[in-house]
Formats: sequence, C-alpha cells, structure tokens
Amino acid sequence: MARWAIDRYTDSGDVVLDPMVGSGTTMVEAVLAGRQAWGADIDPLARLIAQVKATPIDPLAFANAAQEVGRLLDNGALDDGWRPTIAQLDRWFRSDVASDLSAIRVAITRVDTTPEVKSILWVAFSSLIVARTSVANARDLVHSRHHYRAWEFDPDAIGRFKGKLRQFQKLFKEYAELLGPQSQSVPRALIVGSDARKLDVPSSSAQLVFTSPPYGSALDYTRAHIFAVAWMPEVLGTDPEAYRLLGREYVGSERAPMNEAGRTKGVPPQTGLVETDAVLANLADHRERAWIVYRYFRDMTVVLREAFRVVKPGGHVVLVVCPSNIRKIIIPTPDLLTEAIRSLDLSDGIPNVVGLHQRTLHERRRVMPYLESAFGVRMRTEYVLIARKAPLAVGVVK
Ligand SMILES: C[S@@+](CC[C@H](N)C(=O)[O-])C[C@H]1O[C@@H](n2cnc3c(N)ncnc32)[C@H](O)[C@@H]1O
Repeated sequence: MARWAIDRYTDSGDVVLDPMVGSGTTMVEAVLAGRQAWGADIDPLARLIAQVKATPIDPLAFANAAQEVGRLLDNGALDDGWRPTIAQLDRWFRSDVASDLSAIRVAITRVDTTPEVKSILWVAFSSLIVARTSVANARDLVHSRHHYRAWEFDPDAIGRFKGKLRQFQKLFKEYAELLGPQSQSVPRALIVGSDARKLDVPSSSAQLVFTSPPYGSALDYTRAHIFAVAWMPEVLGTDPEAYRLLGREYVGSERAPMNEAGRTKGVPPQTGLVETDAVLANLADHRERAWIVYRYFRDMTVVLREAFRVVKPGGHVVLVVCPSNIRKIIIPTPDLLTEAIRSLDLSDGIPNVVGLHQRTLHERRRVMPYLESAFGVRMRTEYVLIARKAPLAVGVVK
C-alpha cells in the first residue's frame, strides 16, 4: 500500500514522510522508488529498526562483521557478567540466557565495522528478545503483554543470534539487488523526529505523508519492547524507567487516559465534532474506555494537523486505519478521522478527503485472532484514507 501511494502521489526525488514509521516499511518502499525517505517514531527501538531496514549497506562489510562477531563469540573469552536493571530479572531470563546476551553485547561493541553495520547487529540482538519466540521467559512479546512461559532448556541465544545474522545478510543482499546499480547513490533514508504530534521539520517539505497509525488501545508497544530497552539502554539512549514514562506519550496508549479518567471522575469533554461526540456518548457507561477513545482522537487530530503542516500544498496525506471495537461498541475510526481532517484549519491550504478505499484482510494475515473471543472481532477490514492539501485559490487570505 505504501508503494501504491508513493507511485501515485509522488515523483522521483520527492520527500515521503511516515511520522509513525514503525519498522520502516514506508521508508524502504520510498527508497526503492527513488524518493527521499523520512521517518519518525516515538519509540527508540522502532527508530533504530526503521533506519537499519531502509539503509542499504555494503553486503561485504556486513558479511565481514558477522564473521568477526561469530569468531569473538566462539572464542568464549568474553566478559558475560553485565546485567540489565529489570525487576525480577531471574524470573524473566534464565541465567544461561542472560550470560549469552551479555556476551553478545560485548562482541557487538568490540567488532570493528561501520556505524551502519553495527546498528544492524543491535537490531539482530533486539530481535532475540522482542520476538514471538523470545529468549526471555515470555510468550509473544510482540503482540501482547508478557505471558510468562519458562524455557525448560537453554534456547541457545548465541546460536539464534548467528542465525539472525545469516537471515539479515540475505535480506540486505536482496535489498541491494532490488536497488540495482543505484544502490550506493540512492537518497539516504533519514529519521527526522520522534513525536508525530510535533515534528522538527519545515512546513511544506514533503510531497506525501503516508502512515499506519496505532489502533486505539490494541498494542502496548512499550510493554512489548521494554526488555530490549533494558538490554541495550546505551544504544537506544534511554533506560527502562524513562522508557516506561515515555509510554504515556504514545498515541493509543491506555495509561495516560486511564490516569486522566481517575483524576477527573467525570466523562471526557465534548470535542465539538458531531460523530466523535456521538461515539463518546455511546461509551458513557464505560467511562475509562471513553477517555481512551477521546485521547486517541484528540492525539490523532494533532498528528493530522502536523502532517498537513509538513505536506506541500497539492500534496497528499494517506492513512491506513481500521475501525475498532470497544466493549462491543464500534469505533468508526476512518469516519472519525475524516471528521477530524475536515475540522482542521490550515493557513496554507484546505484539507480535503478525496478517497476512502477498503480492503479486507485475509484470515491468515490477522495478527491477534485469539483476542477475538475476548474482545469481539478486530482488524478485519482496513481502510485507506486519502486526503489532499488543496492549494488556496489565488487571492484567498486566511
Ligand atoms: C501501527 S505501527 C506502524 C507500523 C508500520 N506501518 C510498519 O510497517 O511497521 C504505529 C507506530 O506508531 C508509533 N507511535 C505511537 N505514538 C506515536 C507518537 N506520538 N509519535 C510517533 N509515533 C508514535 C508506535 O511506536 C508504532 O511504531
């Protein structure tokens, strides 16, 4: 879908921005299409992954680094005594796993290679921890909270790490091949910011903003990533405590609105948007949920205002979104975001919603089927919402 929007709404050399870039799909597609790829994400691990995934590297430099890391680990003389600050570390990590992770950290630090290749090694390291099959004593860290599941045997973190490096080498080789001879000369993929509500980039600088924002309260990214943050704080420039606090700033997070619900005792205020207020009124019996929905649309309105500031007059803002379902009440996210876009007052253009496409996800591709029985059907149909910043007519002063 990113490629479809890029081909349709931009030309070679244009800037494509994904302000909630996640693992970097939009940036990869922009680079492949010969556009300038800009990304932002509030999550430091997402920023690292997106940067790594979208940056083509010299496959030989990576192969050499992987070999050297392997050699350092095989020699077995690395200090494996470092431990992260995680409450109940021994519960979440077997001691043999903790020693292996610690040794891998030292090997990555020691290897003599470029900063780009070193970042790939760190992403491979993080993926040992944040994975469906994590080396932690936890099941499915990606999609849910930590379900404790103890390893009964040593999962061999070092062996898995080497396997990841082989897999990544193939992926980067494929990326270089797809880019062809232009591989070394493509515009660089840039991480330009963190919070999508306040981007430090000039107004009217991108031709297209394409993003798939979080779904209201579906995934708790910080809970999923906190173990990886704890194991590589210096790389991500944060620590578990600061990261936990950052969690309140995530769009779709439950913690901040629950807090607000607790403090105010009342229902959330009116937004002045007819459809949004009607949905909030339907949720009046579920006060905390109403606050979560209120916060989500309030934050998304700020994200949209920022997206329209950054996009050039005549450019497009494209969102991939899903309706959701809270306490069996449908939250028509595409309609409410359409309403939010129409309410924006821009100084240099008019935000028009020009299209709403729908596609139903294949059963097999849905990520959280086991949640359906508990919460109702989720994420069955995706919507692609297309908006355009129409230039102001000549002579109109706003
Ligand atoms: C659905 S994911 C994006 C997935 C992405 N399209 C991909 O291909 O991986 C949503 C992202 O929004 C990010 N996010 C949440 N709140 C944010 C905020 N305030 N500013 C920027 N990014 C935010 C999350 O960290 C997450 O990576």
